[in-house]
Amino acid sequence: MTDDDWEHALGGVHALVWEGEELIGHASVVQRRLLHRGRALRTGYVEAVGVRADRRRRGHAAAMMQALERVVRGAYELGALSAADEAGALYRSLGWQLWRGPTSALTPTGIRRTEEEDGGVYVLPVTAQLDLSGELTCDWRDGHVW
Ligand SMILES: CC(C)(COP(=O)(O)OP(=O)(O)OC[C@H]1O[C@@H](n2cnc3c(N)ncnc32)[C@H](O)[C@@H]1OP(=O)(O)O)[C@@H](O)C(=O)NCCC(=O)NCCS
Repeated sequence: MTDDDWEHALGGVHALVWEGEELIGHASVVQRRLLHRGRALRTGYVEAVGVRADRRRRGHAAAMMQALERVVRGAYELGALSAADEAGALYRSLGWQLWRGPTSALTPTGIRRTEEEDGGVYVLPVTAQLDLSGELTCDWRDGHVW
């Protein structure tokens, strides 16, 4: 993780897995605004999902995501995240849906396409009316924008 990645994970709600006094899993959800169909949707954005390498495939990530899903459903219009290539199966297995349309970012100089993110963004609809084949634009930040 970069320093920006870490900063992106702060300010929201964290889910942690402890084994005794050792932290073996982390995920968090922070508020962002995603623009879609003319609306700025209050979004619970999942960041920094990780399980210690020797403790994977035991359901820890799924448990953290289920805890964060309760936060998303209680407070946001949708959940969203950008999945690492190897993590898409995890989110799909939990009911998150792949965003099929073009992605972009609201940069200081206007909306710019983020082609490299297409096919890697997942959403969890809560109350928002979403067209998964439409455009989805994230708010701006330093570092990895999605
Ligand atoms: C991705 C990661 C968080 C998954 O953590 P985990 O605790 O192993 O995940 P879980 O055991 O809860 O997996 C739940 C389900 O997700 C899917 N899944 C998880 N990891 C998978 C993998 N590597 N390949 C395929 N499916 C996977 C499976 O359906 C799995 O259920 P199963 O084990 O019964 O088949 C972990 O591998 C990790 O920390 N990777 C490095 C960091 C990273 O890529 N984070 C994601 C950033 S978006």
